[in-house]
Amino acid sequence: MRELELLYEGKSKQIYKTDSDDRVVIRFKDDTSAFYGIKRANIEQKGRITCDISSMVLEYLNANNINTHFIERVGDDGQLCRVVEHIPVEVIVRNVVAGSMAKRLGMDEGIIPENTIFDLVLRRSDLGDPLINDHHAVAIGLLSYDELAKMYEMSAAINNRLIELYEKAGITVVDFKIEFGRAADGTLVLADELSPDTCRLWDKETGERMDKDRFRRDLGRVRETYEEVAQRLHNVLK
Ligand code: TMP
Repeated sequence: MRELELLYEGKSKQIYKTDSDDRVVIRFKDDTSAFYGIKRANIEQKGRITCDISSMVLEYLNANNINTHFIERVGDDGQLCRVVEHIPVEVIVRNVVAGSMAKRLGMDEGIIPENTIFDLVLRRSDLGDPLINDHHAVAIGLLSYDELAKMYEMSAAINNRLIELYEKAGITVVDFKIEFGRAADGTLVLADELSPDTCRLWDKETGERMDKDRFRRDLGRVRETYEEVAQRLHNVLK
């Protein structure tokens, strides 16, 4: 596989063409941002660490029969991935009340609901990425009811596998965001990273936040904490 020209650059990733039409290389940047790009920083080594964590997690999901776009790690900060038709919605899975849900519903962070919560968000930054429901998603032609059912089924399976993996690392999976795509044969594929940039992860003993809230809320030690997550996963998976 040869890595060719840059196809796309976003706030935290670059996507490169390869000599194979159905493969791209995704590179993780050290740049980080929050609140629609209002708060920005460059965190040394973040690209390498989030790539490392996401590669371990996606490999674990692949091995557990969950279809992901991840094929293999390329260097320190890259992943060789399948090309998929991206679906512009985010699924947010919540095991513990935190973040925007706590704010929107006036609840304390840390409450554990009886059921797992699945939010659907439309990826339209010009509209502020609004929360939508299944009927909106079907009405605007994003995906069918059958695909939605499959997407929630996969999201629940991913949640179970993540909880199981992070439990062994002494970490609670509070919530996370995932996006999906369609492979050439139409099957749904997880096409996203899973790292402390896109998950809330709390230390089981101390409750310490081990995720991007350290950056959002100026808690300090962002890189060191991400490193700690990577190290614990390496220890679990070695
Ligand atoms: P929220 O509390 O802001 O809704 O976020 C829930 C989880 O989803 C949290 O782990 C952060 C993650 N997330 C992203 O990674 N990207 C996003 O655009 C959003 C809205 C959430």
